[in-house]
Amino acid sequence: MIVTTNQLYKVAYKKFAVGAYNINNLEQTMGLFRGCIQSKAPFIIQLSKGARGYTDKRMLEAIIRTAEQIFPEAIFAVHLDHGDEATCYDCIDSGFYSSVMIDASHEDFDENIAITRRVADRAHAKGISVEAELGMLGGVEEDIKVDEGHACLTNPDEAGEFVQRSGCDSLAAAIGTSHGAYKFKGQQSLRFDVIEAISQKVPDMPIVMHGSSSVPVEEVQRINGAGGQLDPSARGVNEEEYLPAARLGVTKVNIDTDGRLVWTRVHREFFRDKPAEFDFRPPGKVFMQEYANFIAHKNEKLGSAGQLDAVRASL
Ligand code: G3H
Ligand code: 13P
Ligand code: ZN
Repeated sequence: MIVTTNQLYKVAYKKFAVGAYNINNLEQTMGLFRGCIQSKAPFIIQLSKGARGYTDKRMLEAIIRTAEQIFPEAIFAVHLDHGDEATCYDCIDSGFYSSVMIDASHEDFDENIAITRRVADRAHAKGISVEAELGMLGGVEEDIKVDEGHACLTNPDEAGEFVQRSGCDSLAAAIGTSHGAYKFKGQQSLRFDVIEAISQKVPDMPIVMHGSSSVPVEEVQRINGAGGQLDPSARGVNEEEYLPAARLGVTKVNIDTDGRLVWTRVHREFFRDKPAEFDFRPPGKVFMQEYANFIAHKNEKLGSAGQLDAVRASL
C-alpha cells in the first residue's frame, strides 16, 4: 500500500528512522520488497532523476505498482530524490508520488527558500509533501558534484527561518555525511551536536539524512578480491549511529551506495567463480536474495524492523 511520507514520519519521529532506498530496476525492487516484508518494516522508495531516465519513468512506476500487488502487506511511500524544480512539478502532476525533494541547496539562502516555496505550494495543493535541503553535502548527486571545500554543514540558526518561509515538511540537513563511498577521512562520526541544535530550533520537523551508506569494509574487500579497484580507505556512516540519530529527529535515512556495493560484489564474485557463464538470471537471483538480506539488516539498524503493524494501526 502506498501511503504518504508524512504518515510514516508520524509513527517514526524520534523513535526510529525510515529507510529511504534508491531504486533503478526490477531486481532492486524485488529485493527491497522482500527485505522489508522479511523484516516487517515500512519503507520509502526513492527515485532520482537519473533513475527516472535510466529506462523510462513509466517503467519504474509500473514495476513499483506491480510490486505493490505482489506484496499486498507492504506499506511504503514513493519519493523523488534530489529533484530540480521541473522534475518536482512532473512528479507532483503525475499523481504517483507521496513526496518530492526540491534540492536548491546550491542556491543562496533566499533563492533556496523562494524555489522551495513555489514547489511546496504546488505540492501541498495535491496533498504531496516536500523535503528541502539546507546546507550542502559533499560528493556527487545527480549531475552536481560538490567538492569538500564547498560542502557546508547546516547552520541550525538558519533552520527556523528556512522552514517557516519555505513551507517544507521535512528538512534534509548536512550533518557530517557526504554522498558516495568516500565519506570520512578522519573521525568517522555524525555531527550529533548539529542534529541536536537543529532539532531544538525546529521541533517536530523530521530531519532527513542523506549520504547514509555505511560502506562496509568487508564489502569493499570482497569487491577488490574479485577484481574491483575501489579505494580501500572508503568509509561510511557507522550503522550504530542510525538509531541515536533517529532519537534526535533524523526520521528518513537515505541509502543508495551500499546497495550498489551489494550489486557489484555479487556480480564480480559470480563471474569470477563462473567465467564461462553468460546468463544474467543466475547472478540476478543471487543479487535479489542478497539485496533482500541487506535491506532487512539495514532496517534492523534503523529500528524500522518490526514496525509494520504499528504503522498499519496508525493509518
Ligand atoms: O544522492 C544521490 C543518489 O545516490 C542517487 O544517485 O543520481 O546516480 O541515481 P543517482
Ligand atoms: P549514499 O551515497 O550514502 O548511499 O546516500 C544516498 C543518498 O543520499 C540519496 O539521496
Ligand atoms: Zn542524497
